[in-house]
Amino acid sequence: MSNPARCVNVADFKALARRQLPRPLFDYIEGGADDEVTCRSNIGAYDRFELVPGFLRDVRNIDLSRKVLGCELSMPLILAPTGMTRLFHPGGELAVASEAARAGVGYALSTMATTSIEAVAGTGRGPRLYQLYLVNDDGVNREMVERARAAGYDALILTVDCIVAGNRERDLRNGLTVPPKLGLGSLSKFAVKPLWCLRYLASPAFDLPNLSSGKGGDVSTLASYFAANMKLSITWDDVARVANWWNGPLAIKGLQATNDVVKAADAGASAVVLSNHGGRQLDFAPAPIDLLADVVDHLGDRIEVLVDGGIHRGSQIAKALAMGARACLVGRSYLYGVAAMGAPGVRRVIELLRQELERTCGLLGCASVDELGREHLRLAGLPPYFLADRDVPSSPSDSETPLRSISR
Ligand SMILES: Cc1cc2nc3c(=O)[nH]c(=O)nc-3n(C[C@H](O)[C@H](O)[C@H](O)COP(=O)(O)O)c2cc1C
Repeated sequence: MSNPARCVNVADFKALARRQLPRPLFDYIEGGADDEVTCRSNIGAYDRFELVPGFLRDVRNIDLSRKVLGCELSMPLILAPTGMTRLFHPGGELAVASEAARAGVGYALSTMATTSIEAVAGTGRGPRLYQLYLVNDDGVNREMVERARAAGYDALILTVDCIVAGNRERDLRNGLTVPPKLGLGSLSKFAVKPLWCLRYLASPAFDLPNLSSGKGGDVSTLASYFAANMKLSITWDDVARVANWWNGPLAIKGLQATNDVVKAADAGASAVVLSNHGGRQLDFAPAPIDLLADVVDHLGDRIEVLVDGGIHRGSQIAKALAMGARACLVGRSYLYGVAAMGAPGVRRVIELLRQELERTCGLLGCASVDELGREHLRLAGLPPYFLADRDVPSSPSDSETPLRSISR
């Protein structure tokens, strides 16, 4: 199936990506830490919330636009930073960045990207963020920040949850190396996908150009340089230093505890991304959607609260926005699109998420994303009031009570 229109949801793209990619690469996208409990709960947590519709409102024109981290977005969506996209399709980060720009949604380029900061900027204007991992050399760190500023990026995302490598057992079992070695040991897993092999061998050599400046050398050295030099002791002093270098909208990604978000606001961050790295770092970390209401209620007036993890439907975005998120990030959802068919796949994934969000807003009686609120959420399986020791519900705010009680 090469016609993107035949994919009617993100799951269709996932199935296609599974068919196209060598098993080690599909598993690299899909896998999580340890028993992948957090991966599953990221998705499952959304199922615990129902959406309560409101009818008889004029929803002919629905406005999905929102300003996030200083960027005017056509909908509150940012394509999350993900490493090594060119492994999945030769179009790689350029395909993703140009489709995000075309759609007016954000794109966050990773430190571990296989395309440079400057090349992505060259795809034209669009809401664009650079994601920074800190290494032990502040010269390299500062240079990345300055390159992002010089290339016109709108905001910086500092990821702080990778101080220890997550234990991704699929990668261990598959013997995944960076870059993939098509040697005798792993050949069988790659050779069964000859189209991928041909494309990979025909495309420009694998590189990590955002890190490579000044380091030179081949990329396996770079990958091991990164693994060996990742800064293991990021502190609030580092945040202050990065904020000072960047001097613009800054998000801290990977925070989960409300106390940490308080410190982020104190440190002058404009936003936090509540995230467990898609379940790839600490297994048993909570699903970010379950943390959202607490953080928004404590700090929503001081800092923009963004959320990611497990989002593959516009209706999930609607739930997060109704809970108080400023915007959502998706990782795997667009990676399935790019792996399945390059730029057209990414375009279709964004289009599907947009249609689903718009449809959900319409069915909830909201003419804009700003009208989504907690009155649209209900805990799934909540017993009727006469069985649940509650008073007869009389006002919309009553429907918040069960949500608050589970989130605190
Ligand atoms: C294959 C892959 C690579 C990732 N690489 C990065 C990265 O380089 N930097 C980063 O901050 N987060 C990275 N992430 C985490 C994403 O930014 C995001 O937090 C996560 O994918 C959200 O969960 P979801 O995939 O369920 O949408 C990666 C995620 C995946 C799936």
